[in-house]
Amino acid sequence: MDLTTNYMGLTLKNPIIIGSSGLTNSVEKIKKLENNGAGAVVLKSLFEEQLLVDRDRLIEQDKQYFWYPEAVDYINNYAKEFGIKEYSDLIKNAKKDIDIPIIASINCISAGEWILFANRIEDAGADALELNVSLLPSDETRSSEENEKIYFDIIKKVKAKVSIPVSLKMSFYSSGLARLIQKLSWTKNVDSFVLFNRYYSPDIDINNFKIISSNVFSQPQEITTSLRWIALLSEKVKCDLIASTGIHSGEGVVKQILAGATAVQIVSAIYKKSPEYITTILNELKDWMKNKGFNSLDEFRGKMSNKKVENPAAFERVQFMKYFGGIV
Ligand SMILES: Cc1cc2nc3c(=O)[nH]c(=O)nc-3n(C[C@H](O)[C@H](O)[C@H](O)COP(=O)(O)O)c2cc1C
Repeated sequence: MDLTTNYMGLTLKNPIIIGSSGLTNSVEKIKKLENNGAGAVVLKSLFEEQLLVDRDRLIEQDKQYFWYPEAVDYINNYAKEFGIKEYSDLIKNAKKDIDIPIIASINCISAGEWILFANRIEDAGADALELNVSLLPSDETRSSEENEKIYFDIIKKVKAKVSIPVSLKMSFYSSGLARLIQKLSWTKNVDSFVLFNRYYSPDIDINNFKIISSNVFSQPQEITTSLRWIALLSEKVKCDLIASTGIHSGEGVVKQILAGATAVQIVSAIYKKSPEYITTILNELKDWMKNKGFNSLDEFRGKMSNKKVENPAAFERVQFMKYFGGIV
C-alpha cells in the first residue's frame, strides 16, 4: 500500500507529520517519533517574542552594565545570537541523525528584525520553514486590512531570504478567510497552508479569581473546524493544505484526506498516548484503505471536498435550523 505524500516538494513516507511542540524539541525525541513511523516533524518554534523577552531578562540581570550603551547592544545581539545558534544546532544535529524531513518553525507576530535570521535556518539544513503567524485581532485600533497585511509582509520578506519551501500556519480569525488564503496563495510566496493554529485559551478560576489555562490539549471533536475549511478550500487554492487540530486517530486522518488535505499534523494525541501511537494511527489508515479498496492516498484525496460532494452546501451551512426548529 502506498502512503507516500508529496508535501511542498518533499517526499513523506506517509502523511503523519508531528506538529510543532515540546514533542519535537530534541534529537532524541524526534528519533523516537521517526522510529515509530512519523512521516515528518515540525520542530518546536523559535519565538520572535521569546528572543525579545530573553534580551530584556538579560538586561535586567546585568543592570550594572546598563550604563554602557555598547553593553546593551552586546546583550541585544547576544540574546538573539544565542536563540538562533541553539536552534540552528538543533536543526544540524537532527539532520545528522534523522532521515525524515525536518521542518523548522518560527512563531512570529510581525515582519520585524527576526527575518534577518531566516536564512540561518536554511543554512543549518532545515528542509522547509513553517511560519506560525500568531495574530489575535484584539487590538481595536487595527483594521482587518492592517492585520492581514502582516501575513503578506512576512512571507514576502522571508521568501526573499530563503529558497526552501515556506508554509503558513494560519489563524481562523478572519472575516474574509477564504479570500485571504486565496490571495496569499497567488503571491507564490507560500508553498502550503496549515489549517489551523490552535491558540492557548485562557479560562477563569471562579473560586480563586485567577486566570488559568484551559484545555492545553485538543479533543477529537475539535477536528470539525479544519475539516470544514480544508473541504471548502482544497479546490480553490493551488497549494498544499495541511490539516491541524483535533486529529486523534486513523479515522481523523482519513476524513482530512477525503476533504482534500495533503497531509495532517498531530500533537495532542501523541502527548496523551505516546509516540508508539503513531503506528496505531497508520494501521487504522491502512485498514480503512484496504477495506475500501484504495492503494494510494491520491485515489481518495479530495473525494469529499466541497466541490465533489452531492450537497456542497453541507460545508457552508452554519445554522442548526433543522435541530433547533423542533426543540422547545
Ligand atoms: C504543549 C504544546 C506546545 C506547542 N508548541 C507549539 C509551538 O511551539 N509552535 C507552534 O506553532 N505550535 C505549537 N503548538 C500547537 C500545535 O503545533 C498544534 O497546532 C495544536 O496542538 C493543534 O493540534 P492537535 O489538536 O493535534 O494538538 C503546541 C501545542 C501543544 C499542546
